[in-house]
Amino acid sequence: MIKVLLDLDTGIDDAMALAYALGSKEIDLIGITGTFGNVYTEEGVQNVLNILNMCNANEIPVYAGETHAITKDHFTRLEVSARIHGENGVGQVEIETSPKKKETQSGVDFIIKSVKKYREELVIVTTGPITNLALALQKAPEIKDMVGKVVIMGGALTVPGNCNAYTEANISQDPEAAKYVFESGLDVTMVGLDVTQRSILTNADTQRWRETGSVAGRTYADMVDYYISQHDVAIKGCYLHDPSAVIHAVHPEYFVMLAMHMTVTTEGEAEGRTIGDPSKLRDPNPNVKVCIGVDSQTLVNDLNEVLLTLFKQN
Ligand code: BDR
Ligand code: CA
Repeated sequence: MIKVLLDLDTGIDDAMALAYALGSKEIDLIGITGTFGNVYTEEGVQNVLNILNMCNANEIPVYAGETHAITKDHFTRLEVSARIHGENGVGQVEIETSPKKKETQSGVDFIIKSVKKYREELVIVTTGPITNLALALQKAPEIKDMVGKVVIMGGALTVPGNCNAYTEANISQDPEAAKYVFESGLDVTMVGLDVTQRSILTNADTQRWRETGSVAGRTYADMVDYYISQHDVAIKGCYLHDPSAVIHAVHPEYFVMLAMHMTVTTEGEAEGRTIGDPSKLRDPNPNVKVCIGVDSQTLVNDLNEVLLTLFKQN
């Protein structure tokens, strides 16, 4: 079993990543930190609490993280986020409000505490802006040499961004944080648009979830159908951004990776671009593994199998 800490801006595909972590027999989910992005931090945290309650997983602690990017003093949710994920972040689907509350400790402090407790056993998976992790590293630099592995959903190396030609949404929301994490020397894997747009989930898949007849199965099917409806019809489904990152934590063998020193452009037209660090071209031992290929069929089958097992029980 791998110990996983999820950092989410929940969000429909974040919710799918969460379901995979809950359903996978190979993951011991030690806690969840919330961040801003698809939604405001508090909304995302509430979405996570409601989903955990629906899936009978109230024992997993949930922490609120930062509410805005490192170099900013506020965050305003983008209209496009409300469109893609729905006003409530979960596709306008009603999920019963959890009786459980978030923990009082901050998300950043929970990350620091967890790294010190589990050390190299811990895999941190981030599926939103990487602000919480960057701040944890700044607050407690000693954790840098303790973390097992970090998997981030974000960035685009061999394909254009999804905000503009250069930048992917999670990186664009806090480029400085992403740059800090990439350059920190941590063992980072970048699961970006290069691979997440190659794996497609369809209405036929969600129909199988719905047919489990369970509350979770029906709710997730409705959420993801909404998400699919916001994608270009030519895709015939939705991209698997955040689920790909959590799946990578347990099945790196599904992916083709390229070892690089990565950085992020933090100003100008290309702000938010994830790119090789020109100052480290001759530097050995690159610390970032960039995913550039994926066995999509195996990944989609795995996701469906894990989610169906979870939904049959909830
Ligand atoms: C990323 O942006 C968000 O909308 C998704 O949840 C995902 O984390 C994809 O660019
Ligand atoms: Ca996300």
